[in-house]
Amino acid sequence: MREGVLFEITKDGLETGLRGVPVGYCVTSFVDAYKGLSYVGRPIAELSNRDPMEVIYLLYYGEMGSKEQVARFQKDLNHRAHCKEATIAAIAALPRQGAPMDVFAAALLIAGMFEGTGNYREDCLNVIAKLPQIVAGIINTHAGWGTTPQPKPEMGYMENFVHMLNMPGKKTPELIQVMRLFNVIHYDHCGGNLSTFVGKAVASGLEHMYGSLAACITALAGPRHGRANQDCLEFVQSVLDEVGENAKPADIERLIREKLANNKLVFGFGHAVLRVEDARATVCYNYCQKHFATNPLVKIASLLRTEGSKVLKENPKISDPYPNIDAITGSMLMAAGFPYPNYYAVLFGLSRCVGVAIQIVYERLEARDGKGTPIIRPLYLYKARK
Ligand code: MLT
Repeated sequence: MREGVLFEITKDGLETGLRGVPVGYCVTSFVDAYKGLSYVGRPIAELSNRDPMEVIYLLYYGEMGSKEQVARFQKDLNHRAHCKEATIAAIAALPRQGAPMDVFAAALLIAGMFEGTGNYREDCLNVIAKLPQIVAGIINTHAGWGTTPQPKPEMGYMENFVHMLNMPGKKTPELIQVMRLFNVIHYDHCGGNLSTFVGKAVASGLEHMYGSLAACITALAGPRHGRANQDCLEFVQSVLDEVGENAKPADIERLIREKLANNKLVFGFGHAVLRVEDARATVCYNYCQKHFATNPLVKIASLLRTEGSKVLKENPKISDPYPNIDAITGSMLMAAGFPYPNYYAVLFGLSRCVGVAIQIVYERLEARDGKGTPIIRPLYLYKARK
């Protein structure tokens, strides 16, 4: 390739989802095809046990904060955490018939009406602080779980979220631990994943933060993106129903071969960028082995991890035969005591809005020496329909 040229576009590359086409810089995270996700240069495995507030600080400021700096940041966010009564009341009045992600997008637009300042930086911090209450409100409303309580300033980010969820059943320490882990590993996935790209594209028209995040959430809602965790869980459950929890690797291998021979989908494998197992999935598999090794779903998901890759690798056309993040997160949430798959994409969104909001601040206020990136406007070539 000529010097300075990052990517050459040929006609074969058109209508392929902009795969690999560089469009800008991402200051928060990077996805390496072989090393996986890193936040500000730190591999996700190193950060996955950290407190969410430390990781949000890292993404927002671009460096790890000292104990005092993170405590000050947390205090600032705690001051911003309460939504106005009108916001929570309007979210509680949303129809329960729709998909939870539709309620999420509508709730963000509502939050923008009552809470928006029109300043990207302020709105970024405000929305990150308010997300646990907004999302608890969405789930409580949609599930019919009653009035959403106020956040408690003495509680941590995800502890507060779980506190405000009126879910039936026990809120165990394992559940909170898994919610923290799930939250941290889903904040960001570089700049080009669909939800992030769409959120930033909408903000490039100078739409405000809440509207841009509502667009991000609708982009995340589809089964190829944020809803994949729910679909993968359904797949793991169907395999469990078919082979039982004491299945051997050979049973799973046979089943996968049968599915492929019958043109059926095998869920939870492959990624547009990655060419190894998703580093976030590895973190979750390790966590599950340590805490939920005897859970039937976890047992099946772990067998699918090895047997699925083994079979898919035989097909040279499959560029990434390894498990992605969605292969295991649903089973992990079930094992931890959150058996509401309908809301798994919402949990993804609760997390993803953090990274997108910070990336929007960069693109609107910092990129190109503070001028910001221009409105997104790629080129489409004219082609007559056949
Ligand atoms: C994500 O976390 O956004 C997904 O892995 C999809 C992607 O990176 O394209």
